[in-house]
Parts: sequence; C-alpha cells; structure tokens
Amino acid sequence: MLSRIDHVGIAVRDLDEAIRTYERRLGLRSTGRERLEHEGIEVAMIPIGESRIELISPLRPDSTVEKFLRDRGEAVHHVAYATDDVAASLEHAGTAGAQLLDEAPRAGAHGTRIGFVHPKSVCGVLTEFVEADGQPGA
Ligand code: CO
Repeated sequence: MLSRIDHVGIAVRDLDEAIRTYERRLGLRSTGRERLEHEGIEVAMIPIGESRIELISPLRPDSTVEKFLRDRGEAVHHVAYATDDVAASLEHAGTAGAQLLDEAPRAGAHGTRIGFVHPKSVCGVLTEFVEADGQPGA
C-alpha cells in the first residue's frame, strides 16, 4: 500500500535561508513554494530522485510548527509515505492500534490528499500519508 518515501519534512525557522542552505550546501534546487494559510505554515519543495525534501516554516505563533521549533529547534519534523489511498492507509494504521491525527484525508500542499499519524504510534516520528500524484518532482 505504501510505495515509497514521498518526502521528509524539515521544520525551519527562516524559509528563505533554509532554501539557500539546501541549494548552496547540498547543490539541490527548490522548485515550488506554497503558503498554507489554514495550517499557518509555508512550505518549499526540493526534489531529490523520486522523493522530496519539504522545508516548513511557521507563519503564525499558534502554528504547530512554531511549537515544534520552540521545543526541538530546527529538525526533521515528519516522514511522508506515498500511498494510492490515504483513507485506506489511515484505516489500516488505526485498526492496527495507531493514534490518528486525521480520521479522514484532507487537502495538503500542491493539490495532494494527506493524513497524519501521531508520532507516539510510529517510534517517535510524525508520519504522513500522501496520495501519490505521479509527479514526485511537482
Ligand atoms: Co509533509
């Protein structure tokens, strides 16, 4: 059901500075940037092979990413797995005893459908399911 790592989310304080860091130090290239007002975050996508790095910065003090940065500093925030059916992946995880942060799929960045599983249920890692759009570099 899960086919590959779609992206690794990294919480950053300053999105412009983080993009420069990844472009200059790792030689990667950011291709897309999007403000998700309802989530209180801005994200930048950096394609790498069939996966991506998702840099995430908070837009508001009440954003969960702001709280994450305050507690942990800049760090890996979540791992996202591509699936052909977010609802089925959530149901599978929930049935297997995982605590779901989303009971049903919701809208993610760049037109995707996503759902999250609580980090306590997956070895301390916030886990995201992303409905595969067939465009890993998008
Ligand atoms: Co993500």
